[in-house]
Amino acid sequence: MLDVGCGTGENALYLVQNGFSVVGVDLSTRAISAAKAKAQERKLRVDFRLANALSLQFEGGRFDNAIDSGLFHTFIDDDRISFAREIARVLTTNGGYFMLCFSDKEPTNWGGPRRITKEEIEITFSPHFNINYIRDAYFATRIHDDGGRAYLTSATKKSDWPRPDAP
Ligand SMILES: C[S@@+](CC[C@H](N)C(=O)[O-])C[C@H]1O[C@@H](n2cnc3c(N)ncnc32)[C@H](O)[C@@H]1O
Repeated sequence: MLDVGCGTGENALYLVQNGFSVVGVDLSTRAISAAKAKAQERKLRVDFRLANALSLQFEGGRFDNAIDSGLFHTFIDDDRISFAREIARVLTTNGGYFMLCFSDKEPTNWGGPRRITKEEIEITFSPHFNINYIRDAYFATRIHDDGGRAYLTSATKKSDWPRPDAP
């Protein structure tokens, strides 16, 4: 599995503890150092790497699944479609993408990252993926008692990828 924007690695470490083989990538040197330190301390094997999710140094079809917890909602509009294409590229045929982002139901009075609509998720990912569902969910954060309002998306890479007409 690939954990894109893995931060300090909690999700990647959880997956490894549950039997998955995981590569975690993040743009932040501090986050990757902290993730590596956690893995060492917990005696877990995760391949944590410094990398830009918009331009991954992996061959095509490398991963069965990718998870994205809190990365997609940080991108500017122009980066969204390149991101969707890059994730599709590194996934195997029929590979899965699971994404949690803040939803448009979350109040904006505390700042934070962009709020995302279901339509934006569909527009971004449907050229490369079949969307299985976009469900209401909650984002565990330091500032919410019960979590922030989020969408959990499950999508499957299209079997005829790459389509010549896709952006
Ligand atoms: C909100 S944090 C989420 C961290 C972790 N996935 C979690 O759920 O706790 C978003 C992470 O995405 C990383 N990030 C932002 N842009 C990135 C990019 N282009 N490539 C890789 N990581 C990126 C940030 O450094 C940050 O660690």
